[in-house]
Amino acid sequence: MRVLVREHLTEYVSFRDLYVYPSTNYGLFGLYRYPAKFIPQVVLYAIREYAQSGDVVFDPFAGNGTVGIACRLLGHDYELWDINPMLSFLHNFCHINSAVPTKEVIKSLEEVQKSRGVYIPHWDNITYWYPESFLEELGRLRYAIEKLENYQVKLILLLAFLKTAKYFSYADEKVHKLYRSKKAKEKVEKLLKDNWRSFMRENLRSNVVYILEKLQEYLSEKPKEVQGVVMAGVDTLRQELHKDVDILLTSPPYLQAQEYIRSTKLELFWLGHTQEQVSQLSKREIPYRKDVLEVSIESETYHVLYEAIREEKLREVYKKYFMSVVGSLQRLSEKVRKRMLIFVGPVYSGDVKVPIDNILLEHFTYLGWKHVRTYVDKVKSRVMFNTKDFLNPASKRENKRMETEHLLVIER
Ligand SMILES: C[S@@+](CC[C@H](N)C(=O)[O-])C[C@H]1O[C@@H](n2cnc3c(N)ncnc32)[C@H](O)[C@@H]1O
Repeated sequence: MRVLVREHLTEYVSFRDLYVYPSTNYGLFGLYRYPAKFIPQVVLYAIREYAQSGDVVFDPFAGNGTVGIACRLLGHDYELWDINPMLSFLHNFCHINSAVPTKEVIKSLEEVQKSRGVYIPHWDNITYWYPESFLEELGRLRYAIEKLENYQVKLILLLAFLKTAKYFSYADEKVHKLYRSKKAKEKVEKLLKDNWRSFMRENLRSNVVYILEKLQEYLSEKPKEVQGVVMAGVDTLRQELHKDVDILLTSPPYLQAQEYIRSTKLELFWLGHTQEQVSQLSKREIPYRKDVLEVSIESETYHVLYEAIREEKLREVYKKYFMSVVGSLQRLSEKVRKRMLIFVGPVYSGDVKVPIDNILLEHFTYLGWKHVRTYVDKVKSRVMFNTKDFLNPASKRENKRMETEHLLVIER
């Protein structure tokens, strides 16, 4: 039953060379630091090579919405899903189709800074992340932003605010996961001794300037008028796809490497989500959820590695992970007319290296899908796997660095 990786279908590449693009942070791709997002070159290349004119592209684990931005640039209709509500917030920027005058945004920014009301997120733990004075000042800014009438200006100021609210918290900015580090605490204490109020204003202002620059870059690429459906806060394990799509292009979670909702908790609370909502969403995140439906995984590699993982807890996570990802992709694949392109890499579960793409390949070829190609790219930089501060949530050990990332292409 085992499908051995066929060397002639494996191509060692650098996506940065395959698709020439100004930078990984260019335009809206660089708007916000979402954990483990695609580099744009992968998505742009995948769409250019594997989607024909008129093809609809679907990403059921869309995160930052990279696939949606790329579809706008290349002129394809698309549908995006993610459990994380950040997706719809961030994706709103794609609908801005003309330059927003800097003057107007800066004028509103000045008004916002005179605000009197205060908005404090509905979260018992919020004081753990801020000293009282910062929280109050941020609360005033947030309150005033909410009252703005111009939708685009409001959107820009809100994102600038989220960045500032992160910077002025005890959360370590260098780590994607929400994490209170010694370094971040020292930063806050130093700010407190300084003229922090004017520094906060300056920070907000420079975030606004950065966002306007990103928008400018995006608009200079002449995004096309296409249809995009975005569903954020949805559970891909349970959600039905109501129409056929041509291409499924996605990057599912990498086993247990990240907790996406937790990483964006501060932002979600400042956006107005309640403690109950955030807790419900994190309970449904792969692979930390309890209610996973059993599916039969038709991959010998999967079963061999299951036996090789010694720790009970890691085994359980491994099993739940594949039940969730294989289960949802298999169900959704029934509505995919042409191809599935899945971007994942080998990860470690303890000391066992898990080639996620090969497991998916074995399973789907068993179901009749044809292996078109596997592109293997050397990982150049990936903040999520770089830092010593970041322990794997399941193993409580440092994440082993991934060396390669793979784009698996299969077709009917
Ligand atoms: C590797 S990230 C995708 C990143 C994306 N390709 C990008 O460019 O930003 C995996 C995504 O799966 C989402 N996810 C995890 N469990 C989910 C679930 N049950 N339903 C929907 N999305 C889920 C996470 O929120 C995360 O955004």
